[in-house]
Amino acid sequence: MHKPQFTRVTAFAPATVANVACAFDVLGFALHQPGDFVTIEAVEKAGIFVKDISGDGGKLPREVEKNTAAIAAREVLRLAGINDYSIEVTIKKEMPLGSGLGSSAASAVAAALAVNHLYGSPLKRADLLPAILEGERIACGAAHADNGAPSLLGGFILIRSYQPLDIVQIKTPNELFAAVVHPDIEIRTEDARRILKRDISMKNAIIQWGNTAGLIAGLLQIDYGLIGRSLQDVIVEPERALLIPGFDAVKKAALSHGALGCSISGSGPSIFCLAQGESTAQHAGAAMAAQFHAIGIGAQVFVSAINETGATITEVQ
Ligand code: HSE
Repeated sequence: MHKPQFTRVTAFAPATVANVACAFDVLGFALHQPGDFVTIEAVEKAGIFVKDISGDGGKLPREVEKNTAAIAAREVLRLAGINDYSIEVTIKKEMPLGSGLGSSAASAVAAALAVNHLYGSPLKRADLLPAILEGERIACGAAHADNGAPSLLGGFILIRSYQPLDIVQIKTPNELFAAVVHPDIEIRTEDARRILKRDISMKNAIIQWGNTAGLIAGLLQIDYGLIGRSLQDVIVEPERALLIPGFDAVKKAALSHGALGCSISGSGPSIFCLAQGESTAQHAGAAMAAQFHAIGIGAQVFVSAINETGATITEVQ
């Protein structure tokens, strides 16, 4: 029978950029910062409880059934065949909600990793993903993996298939940096998914899968020109851009300051660009944020190389 091996375990899971322009629900990569911390603690009282959540402005549900981190932790225990457990979940959110940075996935990933570690790692890291997807389903109604997989595993991830899950890690050039600009507005992923048309034209599908394949080839061949040409989304971006004030100006600013390409991060409102080199990413990020400031919207910039490590255990007692 599995017993907790420690008193408490804390894990950090990083923010992620999902979709990466052309690849809705099938590509995502991890950033170094920001991210969420989740602590799982062995307690006396039987069951699973949410002990505390900080950094969410009181917005996240405390009920286990509705909490993405608690659901992911409970699912890990179920998958590991652990039926008797007494644990408390503490979530320290260090990234905005409804931001397009994979906030709910980060909480689910950190919770899944921490609870697995607490019980002596009965599951392999990659096998935690289905539990994390249950957390995502609770958060936004869809078990998309393009935030959860890169946050858990690190790197640039392709979800080649959902049924069965087939996850491929794509090697990326060392000089590839992302700038992600988060404006002070909130868009719920559930809402941003609901507005999408259910059908796409063959013409757009051809453009989109050409770009998705081109992006992967560009990353593997270290061909920045090809990466840039491929960062185009003719299907989702035109619909979701309408939800983000100033989107066109922000994108234009990124491209005119040397970014290879620019699009919506996940379901928005954050906007990301990819660039060759950290200083170009910094310049592009600053220019993007300036466009939000010009229309009276505060914006935060995160510049990061691709985080190849993913979630980590930060404290064990
Ligand atoms: N692929 C998901 C979407 C990511 O765009 O709805 C959400 O962060």
